[in-house]
Amino acid sequence: MDNILEQLEKKRIVPVVVLRNIADAKPLAKALCEGGLPCAEITFRTEAALDCIQIMSEEFPKMLVGAGTVLTTAHADQAMKAGAKFIVSPGFNPTVVKHCIKKKYPIIPGVNNPSDIEAALSFGLTFVKFFPAEASGGLEMIKALSAPYPQMRFMPTGGITPENLHTYLAFEKVAACGGTWMVKDELLKLQNFEEVKRLTEDALRTIRS
Ligand code: 3PG
Repeated sequence: MDNILEQLEKKRIVPVVVLRNIADAKPLAKALCEGGLPCAEITFRTEAALDCIQIMSEEFPKMLVGAGTVLTTAHADQAMKAGAKFIVSPGFNPTVVKHCIKKKYPIIPGVNNPSDIEAALSFGLTFVKFFPAEASGGLEMIKALSAPYPQMRFMPTGGITPENLHTYLAFEKVAACGGTWMVKDELLKLQNFEEVKRLTEDALRTIRS
């Protein structure tokens, strides 16, 4: 579990993806890899999610493919069976968290307040998603939460943009940022994978500068 979280932390950015067509899995994975970010959180918001996780994991074995919006233990099991390397949920669901820990699945639950963080800590988890980041107070909130809980590492997601990405990542408690800005629905509809690649390269350039 720790190894996967370390790998995510090294990536610094996690593209959050909503895929409606199974056929998009391969070209999207290719674009992200060529853009320099072999990583994706495929959200369980579409029928295609599970197949897309499987295709990306099988055809791009070096890619760090995880499952997002995991709301049930059944989805967590299906995702891991399909090849997901980590599980992300938008909120703190103790049933899902307990199940993932028992099965040794890397789980990143969502939090946005002190009570959620204490729930995570009670399960020994110190790597959490901060969601929805901008609507929950953004970086100021993460800084405030880091005072009583200095052991926490946050993955803010929700409202992260190329403009605010750098500011979030500059704070030492922010392990990585997640977001959909590199894989917008319009781009998938237009099959514009070149633009996905360009936005990915841009994001990496931002964090290197
Ligand atoms: C998520 O699924 O984690 C968020 O919806 C991503 O939010 P964004 O679209 O603002 O990046």
